[in-house]
Amino acid sequence: MIECRNINKVFKSDILEGPHQALEDVSFSIGEGETIGFLGANGAGKTTTIKIILGFIKQTSGEIKFDLKSMGSSRMEHMSRIGYLPERPYFYPHLKGMEFLTLMGNLSQVQSHLLKERIQKWSKRLQIDHALGKPINSYSKGMLQRIGFVSALLHDPKILIMDEPLSGLDPVGRKEFKEVMQEVHAEGKTIFFSSHIVGDVEEVCRNVVVLEKGKLVYQGLISDLIASQSNSKYRVVVRGEHQEVFDKNVSLLGDMTTSISIEKSEKEIFLKQLLDQKFEILSMTPDNLSLEEVVYKIRNHE
Ligand SMILES: Nc1ncnc2c1ncn2[C@@H]1O[C@H](COP(=O)(O)OP(=O)(O)OP(=O)(O)O)[C@@H](O)[C@H]1O
Ligand SMILES: [Mg+2]
Repeated sequence: MIECRNINKVFKSDILEGPHQALEDVSFSIGEGETIGFLGANGAGKTTTIKIILGFIKQTSGEIKFDLKSMGSSRMEHMSRIGYLPERPYFYPHLKGMEFLTLMGNLSQVQSHLLKERIQKWSKRLQIDHALGKPINSYSKGMLQRIGFVSALLHDPKILIMDEPLSGLDPVGRKEFKEVMQEVHAEGKTIFFSSHIVGDVEEVCRNVVVLEKGKLVYQGLISDLIASQSNSKYRVVVRGEHQEVFDKNVSLLGDMTTSISIEKSEKEIFLKQLLDQKFEILSMTPDNLSLEEVVYKIRNHE
């Protein structure tokens, strides 16, 4: 539904430092119905990319293509189909929560009965309904994130673009946000959110886009990324006596329980040996790296 094609962004910053290339030939696409995590370290260029997609800043070269069928043709249509939660959202401090949400809904021309329904539904779900009568300047950071999330959903967008939505939330808040993202996806919406916490992305997303110092290093399924970096090993956990028979890469898990790392190619022979020697096989799983380990590997060019 949205495609970034060969995006370059050079900031002509201060005289002392000279121009800074924040994005270099970045291309990736966001398909309808996908859940995509946008990963990158601090300064990798995530916010810059998101601002370019939304048209808040202009790329130096390259183009953003919006699919006509899902996103419409005019900028107005594109914006009406995007729900956006910025990295540092601004809220009118003297408005009460309800006044702010009503204003946001009105700006998006949401019919009043639908607006009322959606405010009720999402503020309850994001547990901010109790505070809608209070002025926003009395909200905590987590409460601001919650009302920001609600406001991004009021016009029933097709795609949610969120820039570090989980930062500043406590563990309970993070969990709730991730659950709501999954529910919103189950309703048919596309999710694109940036983070530098790999585990958060892994929980919510099937796909990932990884930026490293302004360059794209991966776009695709998380499972493919993990498989491409996997080390063709299996981990077998067995229970039984005489564990000294293993001359393998072994770690003892308990008195009688051992975890053994074996090559994929030898797994049939090894399993037969285990059964012959009356070991109980508790599990056998591919010894894949986690997404966190894979991303760390990519970043360190291992
Ligand atoms: N307006 C600007 N003028 C000059 N340089 C900028 C500007 N905006 C961003 N940059 C630079 O571009 C690079 C990418 O910044 P960006 O904010 O996109 O990173 P990010 O991946 O969102 O990082 P974070 O995880 O810290 O939010 C950084 O080196 C930043 O200093
Ligand atoms: Mg950022």
